Amino acid sequence: MKKIIAFTGSNNPNSINEKLVLSILKKYPGQNIEFIDLKDFNVPIYSQEIEQNGIPKQIKKLFQLFTEANAFIIASPEHNGLPSAFLKNIIDWLSRIDQRIFCEKPVLLLSTSPGPTGGKTHLQILEKLVLRWGGLFVEQYSLGSFDQNFDKNNLSIIPPEENEKLKIALQAIMSGVPLTKKNNVEVVKDYFNSFQNGNMEQVLNSFHPDCYIVSVKEEERSKEELHGIYRTQEEAKQFLNNITALFNTKDFTVNHISSAGDHLVMANGTFSHEVKSTGKLFNSTWAQLCIIKDEKIKEYRFYEDSAALVVASTL
Ligand SMILES: Cc1cc2nc3c(=O)[nH]c(=O)nc-3n(C[C@H](O)[C@H](O)[C@H](O)COP(=O)(O)O)c2cc1C
Repeated sequence: MKKIIAFTGSNNPNSINEKLVLSILKKYPGQNIEFIDLKDFNVPIYSQEIEQNGIPKQIKKLFQLFTEANAFIIASPEHNGLPSAFLKNIIDWLSRIDQRIFCEKPVLLLSTSPGPTGGKTHLQILEKLVLRWGGLFVEQYSLGSFDQNFDKNNLSIIPPEENEKLKIALQAIMSGVPLTKKNNVEVVKDYFNSFQNGNMEQVLNSFHPDCYIVSVKEEERSKEELHGIYRTQEEAKQFLNNITALFNTKDFTVNHISSAGDHLVMANGTFSHEVKSTGKLFNSTWAQLCIIKDEKIKEYRFYEDSAALVVASTL
């Protein structure tokens, strides 16, 4: 079985990052995850002068443990937007033995903090450094608002959705394979495919829980009215219900989907809906703008020929 070494970048005796790591060991006892306390490898701040007397024996021992491991879990406290000086010092020392200290093995990055972002900002920096230090970055997970989201007595994360996110990240390190993420265009393509396959559950699941939908006009609407604003995934369900209540879709063609920046995806095409109340065809070109977040549609704007709808809805 693969041996995973887990450690934190904290020298705080009451480290919350250590508690996060220990909660993983408690929850996944059979996974051969070994906790290493870097405080036991405490060494002076690196200096060339000290190195002239030799690399400290603790560092040599730690490097040996690294070479014997198959993968790494690092829970890194964020200090002013960066990893702690304590962690960086140990890495500096290790790098004097071999710059590629992670020996081409998978690395999972974790962090937690009392603040809402949980130290996520610095993991983006650490992710790049892990590659430079010879690691294969597989995934990252941050637990925000530690005091509210963590049960210190039971050493466990409280919100089920946070447990689920961590579980997915752990699956990545256990398999050693980075999670494959959909790019933004793929998210929108999958949305259309689900629609065309009639899989409304998947369509709904394409929306971010906190989504914002504008159907043609950015105005408040009554519940059954199709055009207007919908907020949250719950109202996205209403949006889909309103479409199917009003129309029998005869044709929906996607002509083009393209990325238009970091998070924006634009699409356009044509459709032909039969208006159920009149039996008349509502033919229109359409344009769709989506802002993608975490592989979900966070903001969705759909524009069609609303004047043609008025004609098709009139007997
Ligand atoms: C010098 C210093 C800088 C900090 N900077 C940040 C920061 O940039 N972001 C953050 O979320 N928390 C920051 N914190 C708060 C830490 O997240 C908090 O101290 C946490 O307990 C550190 O994790 P640990 O308990 O595992 O050491 C900072 C704390 C210290 C002492």
